[in-house]
Amino acid sequence: MAVPLATGAAAPAATALAGLDWPALRAAVAGCTACSLCQSRTQTVFGVGNEAAHWLVIGEAPGEQEDLQGEPFVGPAGQLLDRMLAALGLSRAAEGPAAQRVYIANTLKCRPPRNRNPMPEEMALCEPFLQRQIELLHPRIILAMGRFAVQALLRSDEPVGKLRGRVHHYRGVPLIVTYHPAYLLRSPAEKARAWDDLCFAAGVAEGATD
Ligand code: URA
Repeated sequence: MAVPLATGAAAPAATALAGLDWPALRAAVAGCTACSLCQSRTQTVFGVGNEAAHWLVIGEAPGEQEDLQGEPFVGPAGQLLDRMLAALGLSRAAEGPAAQRVYIANTLKCRPPRNRNPMPEEMALCEPFLQRQIELLHPRIILAMGRFAVQALLRSDEPVGKLRGRVHHYRGVPLIVTYHPAYLLRSPAEKARAWDDLCFAAGVAEGATD
């Protein structure tokens, strides 16, 4: 069931998405024209991974490669992310044990032109999709990577560096803040801190139950 939205239409209210299952939600995202990003995108980028994964990893917005391939984090930042996850025995593969699987999504489902920062109104319009993904996945741990994921989920403008190292919550789900992998590519000295964050998140995930 697609949720038809005309360009400039109001955001898909969370209530409009409330009953949607994964295929219906994916179709609603694919058909979304609520903001102008629909005009420049090649395709929407819904998310990838195991729909029962214990881990939910959230980034910012699709970049060029993601827009072309329809999958989040497939460029250089994604390759770094995959390597870090693999070091903890975690994978975005759809099949496999839920405890070793991650689901990866973004705060925005469409690429901003020239990879500019997401705008507040774009984030607000896209947010119900992410909320429904979180409801459907019911993860044991959320890893919020970078300031836009933090803004969307924690409503905080504090720098990532000030928010990491402790357990936050999003609607009762433990949430760990860490650096965005694109930032790590630019600032490799921070990789050790990001690794600490992942290990911290793994400990929290192990302690979490349904
Ligand atoms: N950066 C993101 O935040 N998300 C992607 O999917 C790719 C790069």
